[in-house]
Amino acid sequence: MADTPKTAKLTIADKEFELPVLSPTAGPDVIDIRKLYAQADVFTYDPGFTSTASCDSTITFIDGDKGELLHRGYPIDQLAEKSHFLEVCYLLLYGELPSATELEDFEALVTKHTMLHEQMVMFFRGFRRDAHPMAIMTGVVGAMSAFYHDSTDISDPHQREVASIRLIAKMPTIAAWAYKFSIGQPFVYPRNDLDYASNFLRMCFAVPAEDYEVNPILSRAMDRIFTLHADHEQNASTSTVRLASSSGANPFACIAAGIACLWGPAHGGANQACLEMLREIGTVDRIPEFIERAKDKSDPFRLMGFGHRVYKNFDPRAKVMKQSADEVLGLLGIENNPTLQVAMELERLALEDPYFKEKKLYPNVDFYSGIILDAMGFPTAMFTPIFALARTVGWISQWKEMIADPQNKIGRPRQLYIGENARDYTDVEQR
Ligand code: SDX
Repeated sequence: MADTPKTAKLTIADKEFELPVLSPTAGPDVIDIRKLYAQADVFTYDPGFTSTASCDSTITFIDGDKGELLHRGYPIDQLAEKSHFLEVCYLLLYGELPSATELEDFEALVTKHTMLHEQMVMFFRGFRRDAHPMAIMTGVVGAMSAFYHDSTDISDPHQREVASIRLIAKMPTIAAWAYKFSIGQPFVYPRNDLDYASNFLRMCFAVPAEDYEVNPILSRAMDRIFTLHADHEQNASTSTVRLASSSGANPFACIAAGIACLWGPAHGGANQACLEMLREIGTVDRIPEFIERAKDKSDPFRLMGFGHRVYKNFDPRAKVMKQSADEVLGLLGIENNPTLQVAMELERLALEDPYFKEKKLYPNVDFYSGIILDAMGFPTAMFTPIFALARTVGWISQWKEMIADPQNKIGRPRQLYIGENARDYTDVEQR
């Protein structure tokens, strides 16, 4: 016999309402409140969406209590160890791991689209040299809708596919050129004989004056960092992309909105803020002072790279990132890196502290990533652009899923209005 559909009963004053309960593949049931306002003339109230599902999705699942992250069902630690970024891109975009032929064709397609329209070079030159690379990325990605008109009609599946490949392929070039522009070096063009991560490293660190050999240790680490940042359910920037897309805006404008949201220090900007914090702490003996400040409600200071809206256990990405940091710094001969020492001691002391244990605050993806990126030669201002580069495939995958959803409609939250009741205008003489 089919399971009896589950319902939730809500009593308001002397009226009782029954709301459907929907069951997921994994995670908590959800109460379907789509008809609540029409039936009961009430809204729900959930600033920050701590208890609210904004959509259904098949792409990524996080179990915050277990510290588990799945992409199309595959655990992130297996993908980080056994897969590589463009294969994970294929998985996120199309739902299954590719065959050898599918993967080869996909990689060739992305590789052939890594160059930018040459006239876009002028955009970079319009910025001040000291512009933050995230400001440049936000501007240049938004400007892509002025150059790629043949992939802005979101009602055309082919144009959606073209825009998806263009964005995934061109983000490394845009990020690398934002870096080159900020240090006054000439742009380095992508090469089709290099893999995705190696191409990015070469565009960042090669100069025309000499040959550049990509260090395989660094390109493997770079590729793994991309994989660890690829997608993460309905985080703030992904929700921004979904909401922007719900109005029918073109994909380049929506991804630019996601980049802007990711920039914040509470979100993707935390990797830059975390390394700056570790440097400010400087030595292990100063850690207790900063832990006390993080616990002091009167002090706005928080431990950057710690805590998460969903994870109430170790962020599985942080575990892989920590292993990668040990490996990369060891292979580069800088294992006694003082910043890494401070980070590991800070993690140890914080995880022993009752405040952090009680609030279930653990290192997140941003805690160790900056240490690796710093060791690879990136300035802290490039940390969030690298996060944005990697998260583009997640934003695009979620965007495609939303556009294809027959339930898709413009997102328009309501509010709890606590302002003035209606009142008449008074002339300035009467005020
Ligand atoms: C990312 O959503 C995602 O999935 C994001 C992300 C992704 O891949 O897209 O995972 C990427 O953004 C990771 C998070 C990077 N941000 C940081 O590392 C910044 C430092 N972390 C905090 O700002 C905070 O933990 C957040 C923003 C990450 C989460 O904030 P929440 O869920 O709103 O939790 P909260 O701020 O309400 O904190 C709960 C309690 C509070 O204390 P009380 O009010 O209950 O007394 O924990 C405290 C907070 O004060 N707290 C911290 C803390 N983080 C939370 N105290 C000290 N240091 C911290 N880092």
